[in-house]
Amino acid sequence: MKTVVITGGTDGMGKALALIHLRRGDQVVVVGTNAKKGQAVLDAADELEAGGRAEFIQADLSLVAENRRVITQIASTHQTVDTLVLGARYFRATRFVTAEGFEANFALFYLSRYLLGHGLVAQLEQTSTPVILDLSGPGGDLSRIRWDDLQFAHDYHPDEAMGQCGKLSDLLAVAFTRHYPDSRVRYVLLHPGLTATAFTGEYDTASAELVTRMRERGQPVEAALVRILRHLDNPPPGPLTAFMQDNPVDVHGEPFDSAAADRLSELTSKLLR
Ligand SMILES: NC(=O)c1ccc[n+]([C@@H]2O[C@H](COP(=O)([O-])OP(=O)(O)OC[C@H]3O[C@@H](n4cnc5c(N)ncnc54)[C@H](OP(=O)(O)O)[C@@H]3O)[C@@H](O)[C@H]2O)c1
Repeated sequence: MKTVVITGGTDGMGKALALIHLRRGDQVVVVGTNAKKGQAVLDAADELEAGGRAEFIQADLSLVAENRRVITQIASTHQTVDTLVLGARYFRATRFVTAEGFEANFALFYLSRYLLGHGLVAQLEQTSTPVILDLSGPGGDLSRIRWDDLQFAHDYHPDEAMGQCGKLSDLLAVAFTRHYPDSRVRYVLLHPGLTATAFTGEYDTASAELVTRMRERGQPVEAALVRILRHLDNPPPGPLTAFMQDNPVDVHGEPFDSAAADRLSELTSKLLR
């Protein structure tokens, strides 16, 4: 029996993945903000007679303190974590700053992933083939990063902010593998392809129309799950791998530059101090 932690596990691909693992007999922890959606996962688990193996943690992962609380809660109840899926997403048409002072995309798509990966590494290391699967990348080249304005204080554009976070997630993965060179953790970056999911977020008229069209064009969640499970069931051998849908992405090229990864890592440590 595996222990699988899924952020964004209350909706979309994360929820579908949670139910598959529950059917397989695994222990599943889903994290999300919405209590009703969390209860729906628990109810579905009951229907599968898997209620005892499902756990919902209600938390706003755009807050550092909430990530720390989630890590403490998971670590206190689970000695081991086999799989950590990083899949929380939230679209914001207008810039939003969290109560802790971080731009919300930066906080949810990047800082949360940073905190959870590092925060649960001890539990991951207890298992034979631990995997961290981040669904937000891989994301293009380094020019997407506004090093002098990482939190989009100027000229906020939601797609650019989210695109940058995909890139930051790539560098996070590089920095993670450099930080734990002897780790057993396989870090996998996967773009599962455009998928018809909830697309949670706050939209203006233009972005709402766009997302409706994206949902119409998107593949069914089941198709994305095939891609996700391919890596979870047979983790790639290398410490870091990346895939655009079914195609491997070279993680040794300039977009995964280790100096940029170190730079981001140092900036992050300072921000979190
Ligand atoms: N759908 C696509 O076409 C696509 C394509 C490429 C990559 N991806 C990536 O795949 C992952 C899953 O996407 P999806 O489309 O399946 O998502 P989705 O259906 O929109 O669901 C988003 C999930 O994130 C959770 N979430 C949102 N804000 C949160 C917060 N502040 N704290 C904690 N949880 C939060 C939501 O839970 P609550 O509602 O309970 O808060 C929900 O479970 C994301 O990382 C996304 O970027 C998606």
